Amino acid sequence: MDVLKIRKDFPILERKMRGQPLVYLDSAASAQKPRPVIEAMSRFYEQGYANIHRGVYELSMSATDLYDQGRVCVQRFINAAHEDEIIFTHGATESLNLVASSWGAANLKEGDEVVLTQLEHHANIVPWQLLQKKIPFKLRVVPIKKDGDILLQDVLEALSEKTKLVSVAHVSNAFGTILPVKDIIKAAHDRGIPVMLDGAQAIAHETVDVQALDADFYVFSGHKIYGPTGIGVLYGKRAWLQSMPPYQGGGDMIENVTFEETSFLPPPARFEAGTPHIAGVVGLTAGLNYVTSIGMQNIAVHEDKLLAYAHEKIGTIQGVRLIGTAPRKAAILSFVMEHAHPHDIGTVLESRGIAIRAGHHCAQPAMESMGLMGTARASFGLYNTFEDVDSLAEGLRAVREIFA
Ligand code: ALA
Repeated sequence: MDVLKIRKDFPILERKMRGQPLVYLDSAASAQKPRPVIEAMSRFYEQGYANIHRGVYELSMSATDLYDQGRVCVQRFINAAHEDEIIFTHGATESLNLVASSWGAANLKEGDEVVLTQLEHHANIVPWQLLQKKIPFKLRVVPIKKDGDILLQDVLEALSEKTKLVSVAHVSNAFGTILPVKDIIKAAHDRGIPVMLDGAQAIAHETVDVQALDADFYVFSGHKIYGPTGIGVLYGKRAWLQSMPPYQGGGDMIENVTFEETSFLPPPARFEAGTPHIAGVVGLTAGLNYVTSIGMQNIAVHEDKLLAYAHEKIGTIQGVRLIGTAPRKAAILSFVMEHAHPHDIGTVLESRGIAIRAGHHCAQPAMESMGLMGTARASFGLYNTFEDVDSLAEGLRAVREIFA
């Protein structure tokens, strides 16, 4: 993989920040956009834009084709069995809310349990708590180990005849831990329990095959895989989606409407009320084609090398403590420093043109399990280099000089 050539596809990486080359280490929050994505969206708005599924004119029909092709592109990218198992949403957050609202309300009752882990992003915690205001089911939380790992054994202990769903991250956004999701799914299925994976942090870093995983639901956002914001995906096995009631009502999801009664279209239309983010689907398609042309396996190998280098280089700086050192990790380096608050670290790095995230990363229970309010987090994308890690290391030595 020629990273220097890849970097040329990302115009923003040519920018200077604070008079120095931008070192972008915040791809876990959002990835930068390559030219093919930017150009596909501009082209669509300049030459191809119209609403879909409605017009009897060329522009509307070709926009509809692009939207439908986007669904097939996602289907192939995650190896879903059927096109109608792909629902377009605003992002992973909306996908999780959709399942909690629709599947949850139809399938949960008092006394039932949904199993989560302590390292979930708030987007896989809060929708369940909102539903708990209507249905008194319980959340069963699998604890995190000191190194940020989640053990299969602990998940197994949380499962019982009360468990109706396991909903867990594929990769932790706070620590980078890769969960043993295949084993979790197998164990849950052996007990007749469906599993939802929050793939927001996994999708850009490894090949995701929903059939090989046998996931019942899989969610991700476009913006973390080099596509635009405001577009995401819910994958659901056909049988589940067909059994679920609508999540929102509006245009384009009905079969017939009267004031007495309304009937609904089958999935995916049933779950895509209103005018969707058409340009978002065009951009997402371009993003998925872009990473496919590079090869997800090549991206994973490159990022694994970067992460190993960063663990060695950053982990050995005096005063730095890495948070999250599980044996299987992807593209995320969380750490704290003696004497310096994560926001101070971020501010000093920012003055050197280095972008990281600092705080609780929308995973407060995960932070609490480590006895922390937050961490500094560097995260990698396919465009990062070993020199980026070296710049981070130099920046952290400067932090130490200022605060220690
Ligand atoms: N969930 C994103 C992150 O981890 C925004 O930064």
